[in-house]
Amino acid sequence: MSNKMSPHFLTFQLSLLLIFLLCTTITTTIAQPAPAPGPPPPTNITKILEKASQFTTLIRLYGITKVGDQINTQLNNSQQGMTVLAPPDNAFSSLAPGVLNSLNDQQKDELIQFHVLPTFISTAQFQTLSNPLRTQAGDSTYYNFPLNITTNGTSVTLITGVVNATLQNTIYTDGQLAVYQVDKVLLPMNLFGPQPPAAAPAPEPEKKKKKKTGDDDTPATDSTVSSSVDLRIGMHGLMGGLIGFIAMFYL
Ligand SMILES: *[C@@H]1O[C@H](CO)[C@@H](O)[C@H](O)[C@H]1NC(C)=O
Ligand SMILES: *[C@@H]1O[C@H](CO)[C@@H](O)[C@H](O)[C@H]1NC(C)=O
Ligand SMILES: *[C@@H]1O[C@H](CO)[C@@H](O)[C@H](O)[C@H]1NC(C)=O
Ligand SMILES: *[C@@H]1O[C@H](CO)[C@@H](O)[C@H](O)[C@H]1NC(C)=O
Ligand SMILES: *[C@@H]1O[C@H](CO)[C@@H](O)[C@H](O)[C@H]1NC(C)=O
Repeated sequence: MSNKMSPHFLTFQLSLLLIFLLCTTITTTIAQPAPAPGPPPPTNITKILEKASQFTTLIRLYGITKVGDQINTQLNNSQQGMTVLAPPDNAFSSLAPGVLNSLNDQQKDELIQFHVLPTFISTAQFQTLSNPLRTQAGDSTYYNFPLNITTNGTSVTLITGVVNATLQNTIYTDGQLAVYQVDKVLLPMNLFGPQPPAAAPAPEPEKKKKKKTGDDDTPATDSTVSSSVDLRIGMHGLMGGLIGFIAMFYL
């Protein structure tokens, strides 16, 4: 009837405890090594814009045109980085009504690609760029997709030939991707500007507007570019304008 445990039994218990403690320490130290560093998660332009808020229209257009995916893929594969010019929602809503809806899918794509530059440009580098800039919309000749930049002190202006936009602030930069907010939608000449001076007087149905004459000797009619240009979407050349003008007096 002795409750006393034998010294041997105590020693045995103690050793069990020690072994148990030892084991848990070993397993925890084995399990402990910090998670492998691995590559950083791929940059996601949509996520960046969501975080910045005020860019729901641009995000929607990135989805429709797949330009968002394209930027992410290109960033992952390119050494040169990218620069995104991001108009906020109020820039889109201050466009003339119906402008966006009047664009077909290809034109929407061109409009959005026009806001993407295929190199990383830091704010300091804006001073050193030569005009016209290269955008993802392609051909930067006058009647197509030119985008010029001028700086005055710290202020940076983007000139499309249709609008002048101001760079407002840096939304994101990591040395690979720079995202800058701009105060206006950058409307490219090809979609919103005057057409090249017609070669033939008869208005023939054009298949592609991308055709480039390469003649820079004819002075461009810059001065006629105004906000009314937005309304001419879909009307090609003078005839459309004339018909509209005449129609105004009969309605
Ligand atoms: C990027 O982020 C958006 C929004 O957070 C998400 O819907 C999308 O799946 C992400 N894309 C990738 C490739 O992770
Ligand atoms: C990024 O590029 C690497 C190697 O070029 C590729 O293995 C990986 O799948 C790419 N990731 C994404 C999200 O495209
Ligand atoms: C540059 O900015 C200064 C000060 O805001 C202004 O006075 C000047 O006219 C600007 N120059 C040009 C070329 O716009
Ligand atoms: C952009 O700059 C180039 C070179 O200075 C000039 O030839 C071109 O006409 C400019 N384009 C616009 C749209 O201002
Ligand atoms: C844009 O700025 C230039 C001067 O840099 C000016 O000549 C032109 O008229 C402006 N265009 C618009 C559409 O405001």
